[in-house]
Amino acid sequence: MRVEERERVRSGGGVGAEQVRLSRASVGDTLRVAGTVLLPTVAQGLVIRRRLVTLAGRWWQPDARAVRLMQRLRGRYGGGALLLRNPGRKWALALSTDAVRVVLADTEPYSPATVDKIAALSHFQPHGVLITRGGLRAPRRAVNEHALDADLPVHHLAASITAKITEEIAPLRDQMGGRLAWDRFATAYWRAVRRIVLGDAAHDDDELLDLLAMLRRDANWAGLRPRNDRLRQRFRQRLDAHLARREPGSLASLLPPPEPVMDPYGQVPHWLFAYDAAGATVFRTLAMLSTHPVQRLWSAADLRSGESPHRLPRLRACVLETLRLWPTTPAILRESGTPTRWDGGRLPARTSLLVYTPFFHRDDQTLPYAHRFEPARWIDANGHDEWSTVSFSAGPGRCPGRNLVLLTTTAILAALLRDREPRLLSYAKLSPDRPLPVGLDHFGLRFRLAE
Ligand code: HEM
Repeated sequence: MRVEERERVRSGGGVGAEQVRLSRASVGDTLRVAGTVLLPTVAQGLVIRRRLVTLAGRWWQPDARAVRLMQRLRGRYGGGALLLRNPGRKWALALSTDAVRVVLADTEPYSPATVDKIAALSHFQPHGVLITRGGLRAPRRAVNEHALDADLPVHHLAASITAKITEEIAPLRDQMGGRLAWDRFATAYWRAVRRIVLGDAAHDDDELLDLLAMLRRDANWAGLRPRNDRLRQRFRQRLDAHLARREPGSLASLLPPPEPVMDPYGQVPHWLFAYDAAGATVFRTLAMLSTHPVQRLWSAADLRSGESPHRLPRLRACVLETLRLWPTTPAILRESGTPTRWDGGRLPARTSLLVYTPFFHRDDQTLPYAHRFEPARWIDANGHDEWSTVSFSAGPGRCPGRNLVLLTTTAILAALLRDREPRLLSYAKLSPDRPLPVGLDHFGLRFRLAE
């Protein structure tokens, strides 16, 4: 190793990579990881879910297979991180929580802006903080944290946000005899999201989200599909026109004025994209509450207690537990900017590191509750370790929308559930008496909200 290179070898964000084991995978295990973890995760759609592949997953259960493989690899290599033996750019997997802590504890040298994420997300948000490298990352992160009130448990616009949700969502209870399927829910949900993010005048702008969906479908193919700049500009013009109104009570009103380098408006495509995951989580939580009467009764205390309609701690716990069971970001990726020294060797610069979240959340070899719905654990702050339950990531790259998501999803659940008993009409196998499946196709969930 040359002297200057040795000087660049860091210990991994100052959190002790040198104490964390680094192993090298055999060629056979590298192929198994590619076929069982990487390809199926990409095939299901990392930027927008592919409905047919998700449907096939009901029988194929790719996430369960991936978790079992990761458990075998941990048994074989003893945890830490596993460097794959693939040609070209290097890949490594976190096999234990200490490796997760090393890669998520700082955004240097393990950057969230990986080459694959840049290739994918620049189709629709080239200036988003998640794919920003260097000095612009901090101010763009600050714009997000300010507008999303990242550090407040309840967003200061909560009253306006919940009012919009109630207006859009509550009528669903009385339509079609209380029957609720994904497409009807999604229509009302996106109206509410547009009003929350952009203001009431965006209520009917379906085209905006159709344009975004087209760009996200391209983004699923990352660099394999050329960027459609004309389509992106059409989307941006439409979006910017909404943002320029800075409608009071909307998140848009909390952004600084437009400016080309920082591009505060360029953060908003990520928000609209990420709200998709929150909608899926509402439907999955509803499935849990429909099939788990004990937990439903427990959480119903929020709706009766005269508790502030913005806090709803038990419903929050239900959403967090649903996100543990079905994390909407299965692959948290980081990229090493410099070589780093671990116990057992050197991790080269430009290695992509994968934290495969379903493995850490559904590891039935270490978690007695792995496949059960146990929301009460979230009321106790010690119920989950920051580095092992990473639905919103962790460390300085953690999702700044976390509290806003919890506010939005719990307000939607409250609007649907007040004075109603939810019944699940599909997916007969969800029950407290059997292990919950590792994948759950939210598109296929259907309910009746009975009086
Ligand atoms: C269920 C809903 C959501 C979940 C589970 C979630 C989860 C996550 C995760 C895991 C990351 C880290 C991704 C990575 O490092 O590759 C992230 C980043 C981010 N999320 Fe969320 N998110 C959700 C919704 C939202 C919403 C609604 C917003 C905004 C309104 C938002 C804003 C962001 C931003 C701006 C980042 C980038 C942070 C950075 O790079 O510093 N998220 N989210």
